[in-house]
Amino acid sequence: KYEKIWLLFGIASLLVFTVTIGVSAFYMGNQPPSCLVTVDPAKVYETEPFNQPGLKQVGDKDYELVVVASAFNYDVGPEKVIQIPVGSTVNFIGTTTDVIHGFEVAGTNANMMLEPGYINTVKTTFNKPGKYTIVCNEYCGLGHHLMFATVEVV
Ligand code: CUA
Repeated sequence: KYEKIWLLFGIASLLVFTVTIGVSAFYMGNQPPSCLVTVDPAKVYETEPFNQPGLKQVGDKDYELVVVASAFNYDVGPEKVIQIPVGSTVNFIGTTTDVIHGFEVAGTNANMMLEPGYINTVKTTFNKPGKYTIVCNEYCGLGHHLMFATVEVV
């Protein structure tokens, strides 16, 4: 009799889990890292486009932000605050020189993992002005909480 209850509980938990994953994958836009393009972690700064981290305008309200993560910093060019106009689409292109770091633009659907040896990208459009903090959501060591950069939409 108890077995039945536990079995039901097990099936129910599995369903909840599956639905949660489904919702986060298709509704929230969370996707596992694509990890198709590789880069030698020791030569990140010698490899395009990471030899020039930072913001590049590639079209009208269309930008690329090249990010090099390392413990415990996001190198997004000379400025720590990236400024873009409202309505801009930014393609974030990132990698890491050391360990796995997270890359989440708080308040948007942009969320990816930066893994050593791989280049990952995520694209998002900023339709509301404000300050968006880029945070590391993957524990990477003692300075984990110090990793951030800011996108300012004006
Ligand atoms: Cu980088 Cu946590």
